[in-house]
Amino acid sequence: MAAEEKRARGFLRSKISHLSAGELILSQVESIVWWLVGGLPALPGFAFRWAALKLMAKRVNGFCWVQPGVTFVQTDRLEIGRHFGCNTGTYINAIGGITMGDYVLLGSNVTISSGMHPIEGSSPPIFSRPTIPTPIRIEDDVWIAAGAVILPGVTLRKGTVVGANSVVTKDTDEFSIYAGAPARKIGSRLRDSQSQGPTSASRSTSE
Ligand SMILES: CC(C)(COP(=O)(O)OP(=O)(O)OC[C@H]1O[C@@H](n2cnc3c(N)ncnc32)[C@H](O)[C@@H]1OP(=O)(O)O)[C@@H](O)C(=O)NCCC(=O)NCCS
Repeated sequence: MAAEEKRARGFLRSKISHLSAGELILSQVESIVWWLVGGLPALPGFAFRWAALKLMAKRVNGFCWVQPGVTFVQTDRLEIGRHFGCNTGTYINAIGGITMGDYVLLGSNVTISSGMHPIEGSSPPIFSRPTIPTPIRIEDDVWIAAGAVILPGVTLRKGTVVGANSVVTKDTDEFSIYAGAPARKIGSRLRDSQSQGPTSASRSTSE
């Protein structure tokens, strides 16, 4: 029983050990704010969620189109550029810091979590180990389609497309299309190396 209690305490510690007292209070306020505005329908809902992000995020450069039912954790470590769109069911945990550029679009049920659980060794249980904050960077004009998972430490370079249900484990190339679990490069958005903007995808089987 004593060991059980120790593990339970370890679990609680692992959830808050990375936070100062001020940050802990902020995280509680954050939960309540998202509970209040997270599910609000229609245009007022979008406006309130944008206001909540403006209030709590580290940086927000423009309007954010956040559908109902998106979960934000540790919003104070989240940076968002201009024209951010996010669909329902998506989970964004900025414990390790998440930086997003302009024109980032997230589909439904995407997971972007910037914390790692250390897995080496058999003891103590992973359950009671502290989370390791591990930053994620998402550059301009990135689309992450429905159900994708972005692993901690990954950089999605400018113009990346991530296909539905993909698991991105490594940094991506600019204007490239990735799909699968683990995600592999399946194409490029650029017609040729001179092209500056997005075009219809051209195929690549090199990776
Ligand atoms: C990633 C995506 C944009 C690529 O589209 P595309 O460039 O037209 O690619 P294609 O359909 O020509 O597929 C090319 C190859 O990649 C594979 N592929 C495409 N998307 C994939 C995915 N999400 N997971 C695994 N493989 C995928 C295809 O099976 C195909 O393989 P093959 O060459 O062996 O037949 C698209 O497949 C996708 O996932 N769209 C997301 C749709 C979505 O979630 N919409 C909801 C709104 S957010």
